Amino acid sequence: MSRLIKAGIVGASGYSGGELVRLLHGHPDVELVALSSRTYAGKGIGDVFPSLRGLAYRFEEFTPEDIVSLADVLFIAAPSGVAMSYAPVVAAAGKKMIDLGADFRFNDPALYEKWYKMPHSCAELLARAVYGLPEIHRTELAKADLAGNPGCYPTSVILALAPLLSQGAVAGDLIIADSKSGVSGAGRSADIAYNFCEVDEGVRPYGVLKHRHTPEMEQELSLLAGSKVKVVFTPHLIPMVRGIVSTVYAKVKPGCTKEQLRSWYEGKYSREPFVRLLDEGSYPTTKAVYGSNLCDISVDFDEANSMAVVCSALDNLGKGAASQAVQIMNIMFGIDETAGIAQLPVFP
Ligand SMILES: NC(=O)c1ccc[n+]([C@@H]2O[C@H](COP(=O)([O-])OP(=O)(O)OC[C@H]3O[C@@H](n4cnc5c(N)ncnc54)[C@H](OP(=O)(O)O)[C@@H]3O)[C@@H](O)[C@H]2O)c1
Repeated sequence: MSRLIKAGIVGASGYSGGELVRLLHGHPDVELVALSSRTYAGKGIGDVFPSLRGLAYRFEEFTPEDIVSLADVLFIAAPSGVAMSYAPVVAAAGKKMIDLGADFRFNDPALYEKWYKMPHSCAELLARAVYGLPEIHRTELAKADLAGNPGCYPTSVILALAPLLSQGAVAGDLIIADSKSGVSGAGRSADIAYNFCEVDEGVRPYGVLKHRHTPEMEQELSLLAGSKVKVVFTPHLIPMVRGIVSTVYAKVKPGCTKEQLRSWYEGKYSREPFVRLLDEGSYPTTKAVYGSNLCDISVDFDEANSMAVVCSALDNLGKGAASQAVQIMNIMFGIDETAGIAQLPVFP
């Protein structure tokens, strides 16, 4: 890359935004030119993120036009509904945008409007947007200027199932996905249900049969399968800061063997830089992916019940949000896909 990519972040004061600052600051091909915040405009980065003390960045409140004029690529790390007001400005200026929210994840605007309960103000741009899961849509991303960064749970569930579905090996049309997430998944300004006293020493399901990530999983899994796939998805909140573990159950067609299953996963993931297929008998843990862009996957086959049981683990702020967004940017700009995000996990 002859010149540095100029990056701006909207929602830079939140958890995903802060993680983007950390990663992009260390990215060899990027210059961070604008950190947008309404609440902390005028403050230095270290006033908001003690871990980033000593860096010279300051927050400012920008109009969409102003921040787009400064940046080659804009990351939107704000709630769903915000990216829609930036996308037309980005498109008119010929710049690139990666939305960490849901505004550009759906092919069908009606689905977005139903689940996010707001009209889509630039549905015409959805046709240009790519669902940003690199392991599935790398080729389209390389030509795209607008990407919807996948949700954290969908990343864990889609990666767990992609090899099986793309082989046409799933019997019927129903998948069961059970996930556990740390509390940072709710964002920095989460409400009382997520404070320490409410969460510590307890585990609870939430969003049962109505979590907004369900239609996103169904969209992408159906595309992989080539036919409609339905998902029963149950997330759980657990008392830790970062990480997601998903356990996914899929009934497999008669005649499939354990060896076949394993070979499909090896075929799909052996050359992926950020997916680690674990040896038989080893299982993913959030501790082994903490602070990284990795997704660890195990695959088992219950032959008596023809059931595949696939487990995955990732960091919700990493492969589930900020580092995946950087991976997308790398692909969009045609630079090394691992640049700035190849750090190994922090352990313990
Ligand atoms: N947390 C995760 O694990 C995770 C994973 C995947 C995807 N995501 C998605 O990433 C996005 C950010 O999530 P987060 O968890 O980082 O949230 P967060 O910690 O709550 O931060 C969101 C930031 O957005 C800014 N903001 C809020 N309303 C805004 C508006 N109307 N216009 C402009 N900025 C606004 C706020 O900054 P100011 O008030 O300072 O402007 C806030 O700091 C969300 O769409 C979320 O669904 C999060």
